[in-house]
Order: sequence, then C-alpha cells, then structure tokens
Amino acid sequence: MVLEIGGEAAGEFRIIFVVDKKLDHPFVGDAALLEKLGFDGSDESVCLLGERGELYVGVEDGGDHESFRIAAAKAVNALRSLKIKTASVAIYDQNGTAFTEAIALGFLLGAYEFSQYKSKPKPFSLETIVFTTANYHGAEVETEAITAAISKATLAANAVNFVRDLVNQTPEDLTPASLASAAQQTANDLKLECNIYDEGYLKSHGMGAFLAVSRASAKPPRLIHLSYKPQNARKTVVLVGKGLTYDSGGLSLKPADYMSTMKADMGGAATVIAVIRLAAELALPIELHAIVGATENMIGGNAYKPDDVLIAKNHKTIEVKNTDAEGRLVLADCLCFAQEKVPHLDYLIDIATLTGACVVALGEYTSGVMGYNNELKNALLQAAHTSGELAAELPFNRHLKKLIKSDVADIANAASTRYGGSITAGLFLSEFIEDNNREKWAHIDIAGPAYVEKAWGANPFGASGYGVRLVSAWLESL
Ligand code: BES
Ligand code: ZN
Ligand code: ZN
Repeated sequence: MVLEIGGEAAGEFRIIFVVDKKLDHPFVGDAALLEKLGFDGSDESVCLLGERGELYVGVEDGGDHESFRIAAAKAVNALRSLKIKTASVAIYDQNGTAFTEAIALGFLLGAYEFSQYKSKPKPFSLETIVFTTANYHGAEVETEAITAAISKATLAANAVNFVRDLVNQTPEDLTPASLASAAQQTANDLKLECNIYDEGYLKSHGMGAFLAVSRASAKPPRLIHLSYKPQNARKTVVLVGKGLTYDSGGLSLKPADYMSTMKADMGGAATVIAVIRLAAELALPIELHAIVGATENMIGGNAYKPDDVLIAKNHKTIEVKNTDAEGRLVLADCLCFAQEKVPHLDYLIDIATLTGACVVALGEYTSGVMGYNNELKNALLQAAHTSGELAAELPFNRHLKKLIKSDVADIANAASTRYGGSITAGLFLSEFIEDNNREKWAHIDIAGPAYVEKAWGANPFGASGYGVRLVSAWLESL
C-alpha cells in the first residue's frame, strides 16, 4: 500500500477523523446518523458507512500525535477486508506537517501484516490512500511540505516494518548468519560500511563471554558492525543491539511457556540496524555505528554452565550463576568492542530484550531506560514521548549494585534475588563501560514492547519494531 498526495477528493472510501468527539464539525456529514449508530467519536472507535463510502474514526488527541497514528492504523484495519483499492483522507494540520506525518505513519504501520508462513495469505485490496488538499481547519495546504512529510513517514514505516519482518521470522530462518546478511544487504543498498566477524575473531580478541553463550549452538555466532559516516557529521553515536536469534535459556533452561517467543530476543539488534538504515535514508548529519552480537543460547554437551567463570574482552571475570542471563554476557563484550572500535563516540546506547523483570515492572508496552546521565535519559524519554513510544526510567542505586557481587569472580551475571532484575542487569552492563564513557552511555530494555502476542496501538500481533521511532527521534534532536 502506498500514500499519495492528490486533488480535492479521490478514492472509493473517505477516511474521516472525528477529533475530540466534535461530531458537529463540517467534515462530519451526518452527526445524527452517527449518533443513532452509537458512534460518539471516542478514542479508537470506528464507524463504517458502507453505502456512503465513509469511514469515521474517533481520535482524542493526547497532544503527542500518537492518537492520530493509532486512529490511522485502526482505519486501515477497518478497511482491510473490503474489496476497495483506493481511499482518501484530508489534511489535519493547521500549521506544519506533524499531523500528516503521524497519520501517514499510522496508515503504513497499520497496514503491515506478516504472512510469510501462511499458505493462503488474507487478500489486502487497498493499494493507495490519497491525501486530498481539503484541510480540516480550512487552512492552506502546502503541497510540497505535505509531500515531504509523507515521504518521511514512508521511510520510517519501512524501517519499522523491516524490524517486524526480521523479528517475526522463525529462528530457523533468522539465524546469526542471516541476520548478518540482512545487515550486509542494508549496507549494500545504502553504500554503508559493514564488517562481519566470526568465532575465530571472537576467540582471538578475548570475547570470552559472548563466545561462551554461543558455544552450544549449531549455528555459528556473528559480530556485526555496520556504520554510516556522513561527511557533515556533528556527533558520533554507537548503538549496540542484543541479537539472540534464539534464547532457550541454556542449561538454566526456560520452562516451555517462557521459551516460546524467544525468537524475538534479537529485537534490539534488528532495531539498531533499522535505525542506521533510516538515518542514512534521511541523510542525518550524525556518524552512526550499529554493533550487534548475534548468537543462539542453546543446550548441549558443549554448553557453558552455571559455575563457569568467563573472561570478558576488558579482562573482567564473570561468574555464571544463570545461563539464561546471557544477553548481558553478549552485550558486555559488544560494549567493550564498541568503545575500542569507536573511541571518539559521543553517545553509546544499547538496546536489548534483556529482562522479564522489565515487563513485570513496566508492563508489556513500555521500555526501561537506565544509565548515569540524567540529561541523556531525559532526552531519550522526551524522544519516546514525541515519537509515541512508551519508555520510563528505572533508577540505579548503590544497594542493588551489591547484588551482583561474586565470591569467586569480579562480578556475577545474575543477582541473588529476583527483585529489581532489570536494574541489576543494567548495573551489570555498566561494569563494561569505561569510566570516561559513563555519562555517554544509556541502556534501553525493550523486553516488553519488542514482541507482544496481541495487537496494540498501531502494532499487529507479534513484532512491533519498537525503538526505531524512539531512537530516530532522539537522533534528530541531537
Ligand atoms: N531474553 C530474556 C529476557 C526476556 C524475557 C525478553 C521475556 C523478552 C521477554 C533474557 O535473556 C532472560 O532470560 N533474562 C532472565 C534473567 C535472569 C535469569 C537473571 C529473566 O529475565 O528471567
Ligand atoms: Zn535468557
Ligand atoms: Zn535473552
């Protein structure tokens, strides 16, 4: 499905947003009829008037434009089963293009469906949604700016949908090697640099924590380094992504109910690759690096064990208390690699489906932001707000830090208690941040929103592509 800018009215169906329940607005044809049908314009409600070719969608604007994104996604889903090819929508901006961008993004995110494994995918007839030159506020429509907004939303949606496609694939199809191929393909398409390293490199470069996690897998690990270096770069940002293409828990095996969905444990990796892709397409003036530790966490005679002591790239020793706390081990080495490879970095952000505790703390829809730099954390939370993704701070403290002390090694990979599990995981990662980078680093735990087994907001069942919008909004604010 594509979005276009067109004339006065086009399309077999008209999509009409009822803003803040204003049924008496001139855009609403027949308020009395809508009321009779029980439609009052409340948020996320829809009313389809087939004979009139009109679809009404309620939007109660929360001020962050997310209601418009969600309403637009609802609109596409309400039209999904119809046999129509075109629909149209007016412009809802009074000045600027933020509403159009939000609506366009919502349409494209809502239209996404993952059907790779369906032998008979559901037909989807809608081919085009046309933005007409009619304006909800009666304001002048600046065609050029609107066209640019639609293009930008299209790029953003493609990046989010790219993540969804990678995460939704089975772990047999999306392996460390195929994740590396996806990064390489992105590099080829956009003329970026991409270096891919194998086990031999991990061994010769002392990445003993990452290697241990990968050891029992039949699928060899990959360390991926994708970079975008524009000439006019104002800042250098390194994004590190957790790329567990399957997390069985290892010998500390997950119970069956918790193991399913663990194909999504590479959500952070897919997100950092997509962010680079989007930044390059938008030609953002920021040097960007995506570093991904891609591996499975499996069982077998060769598996790493609770009681093992691992040596990370920065020579710190780690007591393995639980092999299911593997993401932090892979990230530990990747963070060391990042700081060594990109010594001039201004910011270092890692994104990971790191802990179930984060989902318990914040619910499925919100990520947890951690770190030592309040300004950086606030900027990320602000970017979450403007982009419509949900994030909250999880604060470090000195007492929790004591929970990952080890009696046998420098540090333990799991705390002695379940309480505060996301924060102790974040504190573990902080052990691999060099002192001079402490204020440059933030950690985002996306265990909740990366993959949800029901549709929510503008997201379908399964992978959401969470983080692309937040991180790219933050990059744009730099
Ligand atoms: N990949 C999981 C975290 C996760 C849980 C992501 C649910 C998405 C949804 C991670 O590797 C893990 O297993 N963490 C353990 C840590 C514990 C053993 C200290 C957890 O959260 O239980
Ligand atoms: Zn795990
Ligand atoms: Zn994991």
